[in-house]
Amino acid sequence: MDSSIVLFGPPGAGKGTQAGRIVQATGKPQVSTGDMLRAAVDEGTELGRTAKGYMEAGELVPDEVIIGLIEERIKLPDASGGLLFDGFPRTVPQAEALQNIAPVSMVIAIHVDDESIVERICGRFTCASCGEVYHDLFRPCKVEGVCDSCGGSEFKRRADDSEETVRTRLTAYHNQTSPLEAWYENQGLLRRIDGNHTIDQVGEAISNLLI
Ligand code: AP5
Ligand code: MG
Ligand code: ZN
Repeated sequence: MDSSIVLFGPPGAGKGTQAGRIVQATGKPQVSTGDMLRAAVDEGTELGRTAKGYMEAGELVPDEVIIGLIEERIKLPDASGGLLFDGFPRTVPQAEALQNIAPVSMVIAIHVDDESIVERICGRFTCASCGEVYHDLFRPCKVEGVCDSCGGSEFKRRADDSEETVRTRLTAYHNQTSPLEAWYENQGLLRRIDGNHTIDQVGEAISNLLI
């Protein structure tokens, strides 16, 4: 398996927003554990039933569940050229498990301050058909009510995108996930990006890392 890239950062940092451009530049498919878990919740699978309560509360799903999910994902044929992980790993045990199964060449950490995060999360909505990510103020549809990328007209908001749950997710990030930055820095893999700029400016900074 070729090396993978990790997109790292707090909730609402812009991981999903920036993933598309990295997929285009590298050809590595995006693997968002959050998207996989939400699909499982919608389908009502055993995984979804396990994950639902944690996600609604804004807490992390247990490591063994996530690691099992990734172990299955990297067996698929499109993983051979490496993957773009979005929102994984989120704990040191998850990073250790990944190290044993797939090489990582770069960890892109997007930094955004907590108050901006609350603002970003509370205004987020996505296209129900293609998943394109929007924001009421920062990234509205060009034509109101019509998805820029697929022309769809149905949109959804995430159940965990309330201000109260975002605060719990931020606490989980600071306590359980942010220690991973030092872990990856020690390995010389960490690249920090200032995410407190426009979507295009952050995208440019990320593109420069990929040249
Ligand atoms: P997950 O789906 O991964 O959520 P998250 O990490 O909280 O991150 P988000 O998806 O909320 O934010 P994002 O960084 O993708 O931002 P986006 O681009 O959408 O996880 C959800 C839950 O699943 C977790 O809480 C946990 O329970 C569970 N889970 C998932 N993975 C797990 C794991 N590995 N281990 C354990 N549990 C796990 O942008 C946000 C908004 O901001 C959008 O509206 C966007 O338009 C806007 N925006 C983006 N960039 C900018 C910018 N530069 N300027 C202005 N606005 C911007
Ligand atoms: Mg996301
Ligand atoms: Zn769409």
